[in-house]
Amino acid sequence: MQKSWTELWLSYEPKKENGNLPFWQTISLTGFDEASGIVENALAELVEGARGMLDVIPEIILEEEIEQGIAIMRDAAMEPESYLLCRNGAKIFLKAGDEKGLLYGVFHLLRRVAMEEVPDFEEIYCKPDNPLRMYNHWDNMDGSIERGYSGNSFFFENNEIIQDERITDYARLMASIGINGVVVNNVNVKDAATYLITDRYFDKVAKMAEIFGSYGIRFFLSLNFAAPLELGGPDSADPLDERVIAWWKAKMEEVFRRIPNLGGFLVKADSEGRPGPFTYGRTQADGANMLADLVKPYGGIIIWRCFVYNCTQDWRDYKTDRARAGYDNFIEMDGDYHENVILQIKNGPMDFQIREAVSPLLGGLKKTNQMLEVQVAQEYTGQQIDLCYLIPLFKEVLDFKTYCAPEKDTVADVISGRCYGNKNTGIAAVINTGRDANWTGNDLAAANLYGFGRLAFDMSLSAEEIAEEWVKQTFSTEEEVVKKVTELLMGSRATYEKYTCPLGIGWMVTPHYHYGPSIDGYEYSRWGTYHRADHWGIGVDRTDAGTGYVRQYYEPNASMYNDIATCPEELLLFFHHVPYTYRLKTGKTLIQHIYDTHFEGVSEVEAMIQVWESLSGKVEKRAYDTVRERFDRQLVNAKEWRDQVNSYFYRKSGIPDEKGRKIY
Ligand code: GCU
Repeated sequence: MQKSWTELWLSYEPKKENGNLPFWQTISLTGFDEASGIVENALAELVEGARGMLDVIPEIILEEEIEQGIAIMRDAAMEPESYLLCRNGAKIFLKAGDEKGLLYGVFHLLRRVAMEEVPDFEEIYCKPDNPLRMYNHWDNMDGSIERGYSGNSFFFENNEIIQDERITDYARLMASIGINGVVVNNVNVKDAATYLITDRYFDKVAKMAEIFGSYGIRFFLSLNFAAPLELGGPDSADPLDERVIAWWKAKMEEVFRRIPNLGGFLVKADSEGRPGPFTYGRTQADGANMLADLVKPYGGIIIWRCFVYNCTQDWRDYKTDRARAGYDNFIEMDGDYHENVILQIKNGPMDFQIREAVSPLLGGLKKTNQMLEVQVAQEYTGQQIDLCYLIPLFKEVLDFKTYCAPEKDTVADVISGRCYGNKNTGIAAVINTGRDANWTGNDLAAANLYGFGRLAFDMSLSAEEIAEEWVKQTFSTEEEVVKKVTELLMGSRATYEKYTCPLGIGWMVTPHYHYGPSIDGYEYSRWGTYHRADHWGIGVDRTDAGTGYVRQYYEPNASMYNDIATCPEELLLFFHHVPYTYRLKTGKTLIQHIYDTHFEGVSEVEAMIQVWESLSGKVEKRAYDTVRERFDRQLVNAKEWRDQVNSYFYRKSGIPDEKGRKIY
């Protein structure tokens, strides 16, 4: 069957063999069951990859030594999910302690061939940094995707589960970058999605989960906390009500029996209109622990989101600060969450802006399992129309020093378990895929899809290394292509930031849609997302004199942010209300900085387009054309942002641009 979708970085196009060919003629397997799903899939991948990239069909030999080739063997002493590659003369050994380690090792070898690397290594040992490496889909059962920018869902349609080959290809892609957990349905669980844990869907859900399982991926569902009420149980969802507990107990027994590869549930409770324990005067811990205790006998976990804030704020109220909410709602119960509960915390205290402070809850909690949540879907960062490579942003978050411990205190340390020694930890991302042929709308947005997985597996990789890997596997290993596309990716976040909201203030987007400018769009709304611009200045005062948010950080971070002189300038307006005439370290006034960056942002998009045009004929035409069309739209968007932001601040401040450029 002709597929209607691309294979992304697993396209296995012909490659220069660069000394790899002799190894790929024979593959031996020792100590693994070749009939088990994961091993079978790994071997099939090796064969496909070799055939496509090196034009050879490897001979597979079981439980026998080989003279030359790739020798895959089990080494029971190795840690779960880890693998070791070593080269000894005419043989490459791939050793792993379990099937997942084997699978990751296989994809590592395939990646090397796709990148046309010479097999000159001696020894490479890889063990994933994060225990859980997850993608969260916000797919609805009707086929729509909340914050989806690449077409409809490939899991659901018309309240049914789609059963086609795309799920398998999706699972392969995920496994190839080390993803080991997937949540398939939207965190906002409504309507038909509530029934995913009922007989209506069990068979198809179990099938889906089985496919994921055969690629080493645990299957998760988002759960409706009010399910007892909606599925004919007791007329309450109070987590301490015996009737509710009994209902969930029976439900969990049924669900885990019917969906064998179920890892557990993701829960959005008491957030943006979703029901939760607060409705019954209970704590978040009451809610999470009740469910966790009931899934524990099946090895299940409960991932509980911390995106809990008051979304019916009054813009006139300067004391309530949405940024404070996550910490205020969760810190007091630190230590009360059971061992199989993980709190999933967004990278910033607001909501996936192009720049915001790192959430003080990360590392603020000391006795609770934590998972970082980032957004690969570009909700506020250009919606896969504008180019915005997000790995540099994720790296900044991971490298952030929280000062929660004398050492090993970065966010990366906290979420990987290196800091507190806990094992139920990790990283999750809201995914950017959909049913579009190229999966991510903009072909270049697949760098984020790829990059998140690679980073979750190995947090020491640089954003640039990841970009290069992706370009080589996706487009070409030709030096010019690798260099230019990598540069485009690497500069894109700074460019996007320049033409949108300045210095960490965030928002200023069209309400609800979140694409394009609307400076005051959220200014007088209930969402708590204000910029507080007036005639004199702009920014939210989160210092001691303001909302006091800075005190949620450990020292010296708290004092650093509190003082305008030491606050990192890229976050200036996130923490301070600053006059337009304030001089930045560059010597420019704040207002001039706003004007300059907005003009620069547009020029940079123009320059990006030229670079892309110079690659015409050097990257696949379909991808070239798609990206070219997206760049046109990005340029329109960038100009709109530039003109609206500059005009807005000129009109507020009355201060003209020093360079006399056109402002409306
Ligand atoms: C954002 C987003 C919503 C989403 C929410 C969440 O607010 O706009 O669509 O539901 O985040 O993370 O739950």
